[in-house]
Amino acid sequence: MNHKIIKSSIAIALATLVSLSVINTQAYPPFLKQATKFGAKDCTFCHKQPEGGEGWNKRGTWLIAEKDKRKADKIDVEWLSEYGDKAAVTAASAAQASEQWAELDNFHEVMSQTFHPAEEGKLQPIRKLAGELAARAKQWLDSKPPKVYDAPEIKAILVKLNAESKALADGIAKGANDEQIKKDLTALHDRFHEIMGACREEKKKHQ
Ligand code: HEC
Repeated sequence: MNHKIIKSSIAIALATLVSLSVINTQAYPPFLKQATKFGAKDCTFCHKQPEGGEGWNKRGTWLIAEKDKRKADKIDVEWLSEYGDKAAVTAASAAQASEQWAELDNFHEVMSQTFHPAEEGKLQPIRKLAGELAARAKQWLDSKPPKVYDAPEIKAILVKLNAESKALADGIAKGANDEQIKKDLTALHDRFHEIMGACREEKKKHQ
């Protein structure tokens, strides 16, 4: 073999190695992408080196151990939901869940179905749904608030909102005119936003 051939075989071998490692590296960014919801920002989330590859930190080592433990063919990043730092993830989603107040959302749903048409002079929806709106206000008042919103200030406005929702429904049942309905519904909408504002304040206190 002459020198030239040796040289070019080495070149080819090197090129092949380089392209192989490129393929290898490109196969892993999906890991990174899947891991973002667990807080990953770069490859060092699991690797010791910023460029990935051989050498894993605790999390990476844990994943590799899980693969054996589960007798899986490949690693599934979703396993990380069972990794030790899941406490952080669970706390974050629990905090979100703890702000959910289904009865508030239920009320808001009918409020927006009726208030926005009313703004454009269409009172058909509120005439039809005033009873439903009042029923949902009552359910909201009777519901147990998420802990963050369990405050006397919020409760006090909610009592008003309930009374006013009932008054609006009663008024419509007794044949209130358009002008009156519009006025009462607008006031009720303002009241709703007063509660939303109070909820925001409470949330701040808890942060
Ligand atoms: C969620 C954790 C995680 C993230 C993030 C991650 N990796 Fe990995 N990576 C692993 C694990 C675990 C292996 C071992 C895979 C196996 O054994 O099946 C691995 C293997 C590799 C390998 C093969 C190494 C070898 O010798 O077997 C390369 C290359 C690699 N990763 C590159 C990267 C790069 C580049 C990034 C960033 C873009 C990245 N990885 C992000 C967990 C991760």
